[in-house]
Amino acid sequence: MGLIQLERLGESKDGYLSFFEAARHIPFEIKRIYYIYDVPINAKRGMHAHKRLRQVLWCPYGHMEILLDDGREAVAYTLDTPDKLLLVEGQWRDMYWRQPGSVLCVAASDYYDEEDYVRDYDEFLRLVKEGYWSDER
Ligand code: TYD
Repeated sequence: MGLIQLERLGESKDGYLSFFEAARHIPFEIKRIYYIYDVPINAKRGMHAHKRLRQVLWCPYGHMEILLDDGREAVAYTLDTPDKLLLVEGQWRDMYWRQPGSVLCVAASDYYDEEDYVRDYDEFLRLVKEGYWSDER
């Protein structure tokens, strides 16, 4: 879990390019990409964890805050430049939109499966207590 700083190629006179590559930057095979957009300022999304799914998040435009909670402590991450990736593996996440037009992109390790979601915080804490994710995070 945590932020991965990507390279930022170029200079201000003609702009920048960042990239990430399978295996080199991402510790899983990407099977799905989705993106969230047109979200009102200060709206909160997320409010769930995943049992098995691994994800990287990045913000190609805008500013958002992502709160990752492993059941013991919550850490706030800011995604406000396109050259940062945030790796999420089993943590409870709350996501706040802080700038109009912000876009959140997600690359995920598997196809969409509602069965993989934990949407109840008490159930999340129970799974943490049972050690459900302990060897992975
Ligand atoms: P959800 O993951 O709950 O969004 P967020 O965490 O941003 O609040 O997904 C919102 C809805 O979209 C939910 O009904 C499931 C559906 N969905 C798909 O059908 N496919 C997908 O790949 C994703 C991510 C969500």
